[in-house]
Amino acid sequence: MSLPDRADDVRVAEDYYDSDDADRFYFEIWGGEDIHVGLYDGVGVPAIREASVRTVAAMARKLRGLGPDSTVLDAGAGYGGAARYLARETGANVICVNISETQNALNRTKNEDQGLAGKVSVLHGSFDDLPAADASVDVVWSQDAFLHGADRAKIIEEAARVLKPGGELIFTDPMQADDAPEDKLQPVLDRIHLPSMGSVAFYRAAATKAGLHEVGVDPLPEMLGLHYASVRQQLEQRREQLRGRLSDDYMDRMVAGLGHWVDGAERGWLNWGILHFKKPA
Ligand SMILES: C[S@@+](CC[C@H](N)C(=O)[O-])C[C@H]1O[C@@H](n2cnc3c(N)ncnc32)[C@H](O)[C@@H]1O
Repeated sequence: MSLPDRADDVRVAEDYYDSDDADRFYFEIWGGEDIHVGLYDGVGVPAIREASVRTVAAMARKLRGLGPDSTVLDAGAGYGGAARYLARETGANVICVNISETQNALNRTKNEDQGLAGKVSVLHGSFDDLPAADASVDVVWSQDAFLHGADRAKIIEEAARVLKPGGELIFTDPMQADDAPEDKLQPVLDRIHLPSMGSVAFYRAAATKAGLHEVGVDPLPEMLGLHYASVRQQLEQRREQLRGRLSDDYMDRMVAGLGHWVDGAERGWLNWGILHFKKPA
């Protein structure tokens, strides 16, 4: 059931991620835990699933002191792979907030299956209106989700609102380069119906306005190109096997759309990285 009175961008993302084609594409290509850009170190080409877990581990290493008394809110949590990683590795309690009930259903099942249902809760909600009280969480975590929001300043404000004093916001996002030519980005936006893209400069300004201090920004734009080239290759190689589960039209559009992402990354128009901010104690 969709959330009432939502803005267009929220409904577009909800319809997209709830659709059979999108759900099967992400589940099959990423492996059913994560749906985000992975980390590649140039030593061989790890599977998408393995590279994706590396990103979660790299972000988790930047957070100190997570433990059984901590609460993390994962905004746009997908299938909940990062939530289970954090709960398992640190004992933290994780609240997943996600707009897709299709993904939320699988997230809940995996939490039960992996014995983590007592640690990981799953809420149907939007990151521009978080279902959490002011100053109630230690960490707001998000991976490759804010790109779907039209009002990203509001999303950062919401994260700042729910953080306790001294709490941390850590996220990744596919972004445009600060100096990207706006007129070239439309084919990139069209692949997954994005309203626009954020940038490092935008997020720095939004975080400052929301009263957050920068802990560190790691721009890793090369990962975006490597990752989406790998996703496109997987889709092309497994096309016959996936026929019947994914429509031909969706696969055609995705292969072409991913090409625009790889091209945009190679031309230096796109960015991706880990951004880390802190609310003053
Ligand atoms: C690329 S997936 C990333 C999922 C997850 N963070 C991960 O890394 O595996 C983008 C996610 O953003 C979620 N999303 C998009 N718009 C949202 C919104 N307004 N509020 C909450 N979640 C949203 C989608 O449902 C999807 O799970």
